[in-house]
Amino acid sequence: MVKNTEINLSTLAKDLKRTPSDAVVIGVGQGSDGPVLLENPLTAKSAEALTDSLKVLGVTGAADQVVRLPGLPETGSGVLVLAGVGKVAAGRPLTEEALRRAAGSAVRQLSGLPTVVLALPTAGVADVAAVAEGAALGAYSFTEYRSSNDGLKDPVRNAVIYTDVTANDALRSALTRAGLIGKAVNATRSLVNQPPSHLYPESFAEAAKELSKGLPIKVTVWDEKRLEKEGFGGIMGVGKGSTRQPRLVKVEYAPAKATAKIALVGKGITFDTGGISIKPALGMGDMKSDMAGAAVVLNTVLAIAGLGLPVKATAWLCIAENMPSGAASRPADVLTMFGGKTVEVLNTDAEGRLVMADGIVAASLEYPDAIIDVATLTGAQLIALGNRTAGVMGSDSVTGPLKAAADRAGELVWPMPLPEELRPSIDSQVADLANIGERHGGMMTAAVFLREFVGKGKDGEQIPWAHIDIAGPSFNNGSPYGYTHKQGTGCTVRTLVAYVEDILAAAA
Ligand code: BES
Ligand code: ZN
Ligand code: ZN
Repeated sequence: MVKNTEINLSTLAKDLKRTPSDAVVIGVGQGSDGPVLLENPLTAKSAEALTDSLKVLGVTGAADQVVRLPGLPETGSGVLVLAGVGKVAAGRPLTEEALRRAAGSAVRQLSGLPTVVLALPTAGVADVAAVAEGAALGAYSFTEYRSSNDGLKDPVRNAVIYTDVTANDALRSALTRAGLIGKAVNATRSLVNQPPSHLYPESFAEAAKELSKGLPIKVTVWDEKRLEKEGFGGIMGVGKGSTRQPRLVKVEYAPAKATAKIALVGKGITFDTGGISIKPALGMGDMKSDMAGAAVVLNTVLAIAGLGLPVKATAWLCIAENMPSGAASRPADVLTMFGGKTVEVLNTDAEGRLVMADGIVAASLEYPDAIIDVATLTGAQLIALGNRTAGVMGSDSVTGPLKAAADRAGELVWPMPLPEELRPSIDSQVADLANIGERHGGMMTAAVFLREFVGKGKDGEQIPWAHIDIAGPSFNNGSPYGYTHKQGTGCTVRTLVAYVEDILAAAA
């Protein structure tokens, strides 16, 4: 399970012919007067000829456009690729995310070619890093369950970034970071893409152990007996309807030199049928992705460990399969959650908040500086923010830096409020809380529920906390675009790694 081939990333300066390749990619932007050839390593003569023919070639520079031409003598490659980067303004450099997407889109669409040179404009290390990261994200495929490779193209193996930026330590570590980020995002995608026949609580816990091998990480697994004994009523209540029993997995990275302590909690519903409050058939298969949050927090800790960041980072994976059966929770059942709060389950399809509540209580007991939870929690997230933008809610001291980190990482995240009037809507007639409340703004209602389980720090105040709802952006059931493939996207791994880097930089 999770068999990803990693891309090799390297740089090349000056003479293109020194590195024979299968394709050389140069950028074209959409200028106000038509397509514009971006800075590139071609001879002035070739560049001029190409500029003159862009329009007749049908090249617009629109994002995701890839036009293949025969290679030129100076490129050392059989194919010259014109890759659209989208709108450009004269004198304004491309954003890092535009570079990431252009590189990712080209690499994604050039699968089948082993070695690709990316000759996009790069002004500094950050630009090279963006191109490298885009390439690593574009080079992905999920073929584990195909019985033959016929007609399948392998992802690009080697991405060579053509750049004038000096090849120093900073550049080398930027490439290493890009490779690690690509690996973490791709592993997240592959976990999300796993069919529920193969990824269930026990096998997910095994995969977490497998992926952690070779890293200084400790993995602890709670099986159903231990969960029951220790009172994890949320995870057990959701998972008991399935023949595949639930798990809680703790993934700890605790370097001696740590200067900060972060807890991440992820929703790991390996399949969400809705339980007794069963979902309609249409699109139910997409609910194999209801474990994306757990895959994200797992891979974030793996990336942090791979980077050797001086932070204690613990991921709590709350894993269960939500099935209807004679053993399943019923609407009106009352569960006693980890820590003792009681919850009336009025809708068994609002199961994510039940497993997450247990995980948030467990995370709180270790007094982290901040708790960030990630979950495909509500359909309301899609209504509010659409398919591509994650919602972030919680303490301003965490949501603000998270938004800034997302902007830096090139991911779409938007802060939403937690209006006080929503709190009474989750009152229950019989228990401390009900698991559903106000339907309008349901993404925020779910967050208000989770907030009830965030514990107090050593200072007696509620631990700074943020909740990220990735129901929409974690799974792409449309066409691929940029570096984003179909199905699992791996979204928010990059944001979380950037968040940790930012808080470490701020503390230094
Ligand atoms: N896993 C779903 C949320 C979801 C919906 C994720 C669509 C991805 C795409 C979650 O468990 C759920 O079913 N939530 C309910 C909550 C409701 C019953 C309060 C929902 O959003 O409808
Ligand atoms: Zn559900
Ligand atoms: Zn769910």
